[in-house]
Formats: sequence, C-alpha cells, structure tokens
Amino acid sequence: MAGRVQDKAAIVFGGGQTPGESIGNGRATALLLAREGARVMVVDRNLASAEETVAMIAGAGGTASAAAADVRDEAQVAAVIARCRDAYGRIDILHNNVGASLALGDAPATELTLEAFRGIVDVNLIGMWLACKHALPAMREQGSGSIVNISSMAVREGYPYVGYKTTKAGVVALTENLAYANAQHGIRANCVMPGLINTPMAIEARVAAGMPREQVVADRNRSVPLGRKMGSAWDIAHAALFLHSDEAGFITGVTLPVDGGRGVS
Ligand SMILES: NC(=O)c1ccc[n+]([C@@H]2O[C@H](COP(=O)([O-])OP(=O)(O)OC[C@H]3O[C@@H](n4cnc5c(N)ncnc54)[C@H](O)[C@@H]3O)[C@@H](O)[C@H]2O)c1
Repeated sequence: MAGRVQDKAAIVFGGGQTPGESIGNGRATALLLAREGARVMVVDRNLASAEETVAMIAGAGGTASAAAADVRDEAQVAAVIARCRDAYGRIDILHNNVGASLALGDAPATELTLEAFRGIVDVNLIGMWLACKHALPAMREQGSGSIVNISSMAVREGYPYVGYKTTKAGVVALTENLAYANAQHGIRANCVMPGLINTPMAIEARVAAGMPREQVVADRNRSVPLGRKMGSAWDIAHAALFLHSDEAGFITGVTLPVDGGRGVS
C-alpha cells in the first residue's frame, strides 16, 4: 500500500534532536515522513544527531541521508538543498523545525541582551527564510511543493521571553507571505503551532536553567485541557505529515495549533 507521502523528496532542517529522554519534534517528523514513503534528507547543525535519525529510518526500512548545515549560514543552507535535489531529483517537502528559546539566552525585555536577541532572530526566523529562499526555485520549476514552518503557541499565549515569541510570530507572517506569493506556482506553505510538548528541547532547557524536572513536567501537564498531559513529538509529526501530504492539497497559509486545547482554555 502506498504511503501518504509516497516517493516524495523531503528535506527536514533540525531533524536531529536535543539529547534527552523523549523524542524531538524534528526527529519524529523525519521518521514519520519516511515511514509514509518519503525519501528524507535529515539536516542538522549536529551531524551525529542527524545520522542517528537516519539510522533509525534505515532500521525501519526507510530511505534517508544525513547532512550538516547551520541555518544561520546561507552558503551551507544552499549547499544542502542542492545536495537534496541532486540526490532525490526534486524537492517536494521542506520542513523547517529549527528553533530555540532559553538555549539561545532568551529573556524578558529588560534582561535580554542585544547579542542574544540577534542570535534568536538569526536561528528562529532568518534561518527559516533562508531554507525557503533556496528551496523555492526547485519547487517553482516543478510547479509543486509543500513547506511547513514550526512556530509556537507562545505567539498567542502569555510567554515570558521576548525573542522566542516575536520570532515565532515572524514565522507565521513569513509563512503567510510565502503562501500568498507562491500559490500561483502550486506551492503550499503552512505553519504548525506546537503547544506544550514533552520534548527534550522544552524540558532539558528548563532543567538546565535550574527548575526541578518533576515541577517542570507537572506544571506543563496540569495546564493542558486534553488529558491533563503534554503532547508528544508524534502529535506534531502527524499534523506536519497531513499538511505535507496531498490530503492537504487545498490548504495553504494556515497556522494549525497542536496544543491539546490550551489555546482555548
Ligand atoms: N517542545 C515544545 O514544547 C515546543 C513548543 C512549541 C514549539 N516548539 C518548536 O519545535 C521545534 C523544536 O522541536 P524539537 O523537539 O525537534 O527540538 P530539538 O532541539 O530536539 O531539535 C532541533 C534540532 O535543531 C538543531 N539546530 C539547532 N540550531 C540549529 C542551527 N542553527 N542550524 C541547524 N540546526 C540547528 C539542533 O541540533 C536539534 O537537533 C522548534 O522550532 C520549537 O520552537 C517546541
């Protein structure tokens, strides 16, 4: 039986993961796309972590390759996109997962440093635009393509730090612009807005900042209406899979919250 993204060529930026007990959003999405038939290039600043994801895909019988790139570096981003096109002949799916907050020195307005804010803009916003900039020409030539950018419910909720909230709001605006400007080329661009998800990126950064692990987990679980439990990376991966698949062929420019109802509570 054909998979839901059978034979599509996908590139996942941030497809490795922060070390920790659970699975990250980018890795779960790369695994699910491969399980549903896509050939996946897994890109990460940390090549060893991308290679771990590829080994997991290969172990499950899927097709994938790993590449190193830092999304802050335009030449590196362009090179891995060209490599993906060379390897798979096309680019059907661009999945932009890279993003961070506390790990990049995020803070409230009066405490945030200029250097940290610029660094967060570079990683969370400019890096996503760079990947889109270099994948779009191939998609336009094909007359098709799907882009999913990972934003955050921090955009719509009370969130204590400036850099993450503002750059993730920028991701929504970037995606809407891409959707509008590229619809004529058959290219769709959508956002996923994760709520509180039990990933190492979310938990370990707070533990490293001095918060007790049990308290971090309990506080996050308590504030999710559906099941009083955080979501998992698979919840994000399934939403992304749908948006990248032909099932979502008439959907572009949307921002899909995946938050267990927290946004309406
Ligand atoms: N976990 C949550 O609760 C939550 C909530 C809202 C949004 N998100 C979003 O989900 C995404 C992260 O999810 P994850 O669980 O996969 O995180 P993760 O940290 O496990 O994975 C991100 C990957 O990106 C890589 N990376 C970091 N900086 C990079 C750079 N400059 N260039 C290339 N690669 C780089 C890291 O090495 C890592 O492997 C982020 O966009 C984040 O904002 C998460």
